[in-house]
Amino acid sequence: MKKIVVLTGAGMSAESGISTFRDSGGLWEQHRVEDVATIEGYIRNPKLVLDFYNERRRQLPLVKPCRGHELVAALEQYYDVTVVTQNVDDLHERAGSTKVIHLHGELMKATSTRSPNNPTQIQTLTQEHMDIHIGDKAADGSQLRPFIVWFGEAVPKIEEAAEESMKADIYIVIGTSLNVYPAAGLLQYVAPETPVYLIDPKDVPWTSGHRYTHIKKGASAGMEELLELLTKDL
Ligand code: OAD
Repeated sequence: MKKIVVLTGAGMSAESGISTFRDSGGLWEQHRVEDVATIEGYIRNPKLVLDFYNERRRQLPLVKPCRGHELVAALEQYYDVTVVTQNVDDLHERAGSTKVIHLHGELMKATSTRSPNNPTQIQTLTQEHMDIHIGDKAADGSQLRPFIVWFGEAVPKIEEAAEESMKADIYIVIGTSLNVYPAAGLLQYVAPETPVYLIDPKDVPWTSGHRYTHIKKGASAGMEELLELLTKDL
């Protein structure tokens, strides 16, 4: 089976009703990145940061995967598919994708403030206990925090994502403005002969030398078109 790697960003979940970050009306117009998405912001005002992610987490049961998520999952009938996502929602998994690498963490998980990437400290939150409060403790006794990669923190999954990217026979990029590194740098690992498809209604700054086919549509309509293209000769 040929291997497909799908790199997704906030635009992938836009049609499910989750705001993107940098479009007009996006999350970074309503909140300061420095306050809610950096380790310094968390140290300065942990309650503000916990509340920001509690609010986003409470949105999850209210939204559903969009057609685009479902079609990414449907690719698995024909290809060996790995999804590399910058999204912290669980919509790829809920749509049926079986191999998902979350570069920026997962909203439904919590971890320790002292050792956030220690696997023994990571726990899955439940619908009954979704919120993280000041005073909630991780297994090591430190304050429980969201399992989210903030700006200025290491991105432990980047190596695995780079290795997958190197092996791709086909590479698909959906709904990311390619502003945030190291995720945006993953294209450098894609072999020069690998066809690359971009699904995004807008132009995105493309710094890699790779040629790509731009399907200038939203995630769902774009995936309809691409799935047809990628399965017609099978
Ligand atoms: P952005 O908000 O920067 O970019 C969203 C992209 O999705 C843009 O290129 C839009 O044109 C596109 N888009 C909008 N609607 C779409 C639709 N219906 N279908 C397809 N594409 C659509 O989001 P990201 O690139 O994901 O990190 O942002 C990367 C990281 O920056 C996030 O993971 C987050 C943020 O700060 C952290 O919080 C660490």
